[in-house]
Amino acid sequence: MNSNGTGTFSTGLDRRSFLIASAGTIASFAMGGSAGTARAASPHLLPPLPYAANALEPVITANTIGFHYGKHHRGYVDNLNKLVAGTEYADQSLEKIIAGTVGQPEKTAIFNNAAQIWNHTFYWQSMAPKGGGEPPAALKEKMEAAFGSAEACKKELAAAAVSQFGSGWAWLVLDGGKLKVVKTANAESPLTTGMKPLLTVDVWEHAYYLDYQNRRADYVKTVLDKLINWEFALKNAG
Ligand SMILES: [Fe+2]
Repeated sequence: MNSNGTGTFSTGLDRRSFLIASAGTIASFAMGGSAGTARAASPHLLPPLPYAANALEPVITANTIGFHYGKHHRGYVDNLNKLVAGTEYADQSLEKIIAGTVGQPEKTAIFNNAAQIWNHTFYWQSMAPKGGGEPPAALKEKMEAAFGSAEACKKELAAAAVSQFGSGWAWLVLDGGKLKVVKTANAESPLTTGMKPLLTVDVWEHAYYLDYQNRRADYVKTVLDKLINWEFALKNAG
């Protein structure tokens, strides 16, 4: 998992992956901005993690990251590349593929893998090694306006993450300019219902089972307390 000895996942990445990781472009990639569309061509690549594999310990271990990023996220990339080869989707951006396949039963596999790539890239950025704590003032104001307090917003996000039945995601989003908490099942994304994702928490079992087993609520609480990247949410809200 860590063959270059630095705790990062640079081994095997080509030049395009490094470009994606550089100078904040990963944020626009994840957010569906024009940069993501411009880099659309297949094959899709696994974006580098924004931190070392062990940087989220002890909340999320390098072991979990090794499977979650190194096997699951990578698997979605490999699957999508196989599924779209030679199709109309071959040269499309993730965002275009997601928008073009949602709700079409015969395209479910393509949608699921494309959306899971997008969701995971967004999830890694939704956490930071020194995250958690107080949200920045500008985000806190939005939370107070929508939920009464930052703490109430955080509680609603935790409740959505814990109550999602089966696999899925909890999201902080902007919906028509208003801050909301939503949850989605499996690979589904708020992007397809016109909402703007600000951050997400992965509640698929592969996100926490190695570290927390069946204690999803502990995983969610600790991520929100120690890792959640409010700055990333604020940047996305801007
Ligand atoms: Fe996941």
